[in-house]
Amino acid sequence: MSSHNSKIIMFTGKGGVGKTTMSVATALHYAQTAKTLIVSTDPSGSLKEIFHTEVSREITPITPTLDVIELTRKVVLQLWRQKFADEIFTVLSSFLPVEKDIIDYIEGAPGIDEEFMLDYVLTLRNSGTYEMIIWDTAPTATTLNLLFVQRLFYTHLTQAQKLYLKLKGVFTQVNPLELIARWLRLTEEIIAMLKNDTSAWVVTNPERLPVEQALMIGSELREFGITLNGYILNKVLPPEVCRGSDFLEAKRDNQQRWQESLRERTAEPIQIIPELVGDLTARDKLQQLAAMLGY
Ligand SMILES: Nc1ncnc2c1ncn2[C@@H]1O[C@H](COP(=O)(O)OP(=O)(O)OP(=O)(O)O)[C@@H](O)[C@H]1O
Ligand SMILES: [Mg+2]
Repeated sequence: MSSHNSKIIMFTGKGGVGKTTMSVATALHYAQTAKTLIVSTDPSGSLKEIFHTEVSREITPITPTLDVIELTRKVVLQLWRQKFADEIFTVLSSFLPVEKDIIDYIEGAPGIDEEFMLDYVLTLRNSGTYEMIIWDTAPTATTLNLLFVQRLFYTHLTQAQKLYLKLKGVFTQVNPLELIARWLRLTEEIIAMLKNDTSAWVVTNPERLPVEQALMIGSELREFGITLNGYILNKVLPPEVCRGSDFLEAKRDNQQRWQESLRERTAEPIQIIPELVGDLTARDKLQQLAAMLGY
């Protein structure tokens, strides 16, 4: 099955390190030869500026081979409701005295939007429309680990439900057991997509906090089973621009220190990207960046 599935590349890292910029440079590169989609949950909505077009919850074509979709948390939750609210109510109300507003509580639970993004990307991947899916702002380790908890939970829920329904002798219109079994398959499919078709870049800057966080994210991704492409160390000051300025020399010394720290603490490849000047949303700059990424 996986041979004709789309390949997914995710970009993850601390806020503001350059995930969206790297995603766009990567997508422009792949779009030269493959039908490509960028899925973004960038809260600042920068794709609109980058592509000079209104980008919304609908898939928006940029070129014949490049589409983008930018989803806000609000839109993700709307889509989640449309798809799952009835099912969740059916299952819960089959063994708990709950009202419809239970869905509001679940919607407020942390991570529901991120989790639904996994399902959303799976749907996109299964549509077979795209050869490459670039995923700007990857799910956090907490969300990924939830998948394992869910798999376990649904398995137990199915067993408990079977017993309960037997005792109660109820037959509802929609069989809750079938729904739970479907959720279980969905969770397994998402885990398989992440393990088999997805690789990740961890973007970081040469400073203490982004480096520490990147290393943590990197090891969590690996633990989960996602292939790591490596780290992108972005916004490194080139030595020649620092010469003659005490301020910049000191800044560069500090950057060097964290670059070395990253190197010592991981065996993964590290792509160094310099701090660039000028408008990074311009096409030629993004192409320059793609070349620096080694494409
Ligand atoms: N190599 C670079 N040189 C100079 N500026 C850069 C470089 N990479 C990114 N930037 C700039 O840094 C800012 C943040 O980049 P970007 O929006 O890609 O980060 P992000 O990780 O997606 O942020 P967020 O977490 O808010 O989504 C942008 O203004 C971008 O143009
Ligand atoms: Mg971003």
